[in-house]
Amino acid sequence: MGRRPVIAGNWKMYKTKDEALAFIYAINLSVPEKDVVETVICAPAVYLRDLVQREEDNLRIGAQTMHHADEGAYTGEISPAMLKSIGIEYVIIGHSERRAYYNETDESVNLKVHAAVNKDIIPIICVGESLDIREAGTTNQVVEAQVRAAYLNMDAEKAMKTIIAYEPIWAIGTGKTATPEQANETIKAIRGVMEDIYGKIFAEEIRILYGGSVNVKNVESLLAESDIDGALVGGASLDPSAYLTLVNAALKKAS
Ligand code: PGA
Repeated sequence: MGRRPVIAGNWKMYKTKDEALAFIYAINLSVPEKDVVETVICAPAVYLRDLVQREEDNLRIGAQTMHHADEGAYTGEISPAMLKSIGIEYVIIGHSERRAYYNETDESVNLKVHAAVNKDIIPIICVGESLDIREAGTTNQVVEAQVRAAYLNMDAEKAMKTIIAYEPIWAIGTGKTATPEQANETIKAIRGVMEDIYGKIFAEEIRILYGGSVNVKNVESLLAESDIDGALVGGASLDPSAYLTLVNAALKKAS
């Protein structure tokens, strides 16, 4: 099938500027060829320009969120046009922390996904269920609704320029990882939704990542699953050598 694996680090609100630069220098020349593994670091907005200027060819820098409008009276916000103008190629959209603390909704996620692809920025679209929903047995329905909402009114050509990250909320930052089988099963269900909207070939090509307490110990077993194409990683992406271990696991999957 040949889906290129993706390892995306999500630094959240961590690292000073010096720490951010030191990290980039530490991994810059050690990441695999970009045609084999997509290696992305989603950093705090204040450092994006500094990091883009220092990234070598195989490393990619992404943002953690953005507004959907290109400009406007939105104090404190950052637009897709601004990100594009400094060379940003990826953006996380709809992370569960943004949904929980900053009122992001399925509707705003949809607007942002459109805005990103229209600017040729690859959105990493986060979906995932809470523990209550997992326990109630309605995970697939909830995740399906999030996925359908994110892609509302989007044609297949644009949708192919996106990446999905399945991140069960109960697994984020908790040390509780979904088992590889649980993660794969939900990701397969998401692929089924993609097939329903865009057809079989599309569903086989779209990349779907797992996120939630991915670390150097569990990464290989997660990536060994058929439908998991990589990882969106918080905590374990803060340390350069841990991050490179994750990237190397993806390299193994690719080869
Ligand atoms: P975590 O975060 O790896 O620290 O659980 C994942 C995420 O929030 O994307």
